Amino acid sequence: MSRSTPQTALTPSDIRARKGQTPIVCLTAYTTPVAQLADAECDLVLVGDSVGMVLHGLPSTLRVTLEMMTLHGQAVARGLSRALMVIDMPFGSFEESPEQAFRNAARLMAETGAGAIKLEGGRHMASTIRFLVERGIPVMGHVGLTPQSVNTLGGYKVQGKGADRDRVLAEARAVQEAGAFSVVLEKLVAELADEITRILEIPTIGIGASVGCDGQILVIDDMLGLFDAFRPKFVKRYAHLAANAASAINAYATDVRNRDFPAAEHVINESDVQK
Ligand code: KIV
Repeated sequence: MSRSTPQTALTPSDIRARKGQTPIVCLTAYTTPVAQLADAECDLVLVGDSVGMVLHGLPSTLRVTLEMMTLHGQAVARGLSRALMVIDMPFGSFEESPEQAFRNAARLMAETGAGAIKLEGGRHMASTIRFLVERGIPVMGHVGLTPQSVNTLGGYKVQGKGADRDRVLAEARAVQEAGAFSVVLEKLVAELADEITRILEIPTIGIGASVGCDGQILVIDDMLGLFDAFRPKFVKRYAHLAANAASAINAYATDVRNRDFPAAEHVINESDVQK
């Protein structure tokens, strides 16, 4: 579809209705130009708190703030016309009480124009999810590996193995029962991701989960080969932009050192300027 065709933004209900239909295509984005690229193909664009690690060089997502999310959310919103924009609630902005979560979620939505928020956590977050949904805030859940809990989980480990299966299944059910319109399943054994997808009535969005999920999401800098800090098995590289950028910067530096840049076509001579 051409971009001149009038577009209507997808809603959380549209995403919810895609359960069992064609797979839901999701990516993260943090800036306007990348959001424009993602919007051409994606159903849902997440302003993930991964922005802290990917763009700000932080060692984890724990130091991401509401202010950072707001600025990146505003930038992403300017690049979207069709995809549903979902924005992450950062660590410390929602766990204390449903009221705290509502105040910060409402602020994020009002200041960025996001159509929904995402928050990490299952059973212990169910009452908060219900509180938000009942007050008009669509919520995407996130269970399995929840990076904001890296310190209590003991690292970025695969979840749902063996005896841990029932716990993760209960987390996913709790998120659905609380009213979430979809749920991210991160770094789960594939068999469990498939089982959760079969059992739940809301769409599951996998990252390091299973091809059987109702949709997939990746961190865009990972799949473009721009973020090399760590390479989980579940990331497929569709491009190698860091390598391309490094060779472009090397060519530029060589040109500058050799006085090959700027060349005649890059400079403005007096004769080029209209009087
Ligand atoms: O912050 C993020 O990018 C995420 C995705 C990995 C789902 O939560």
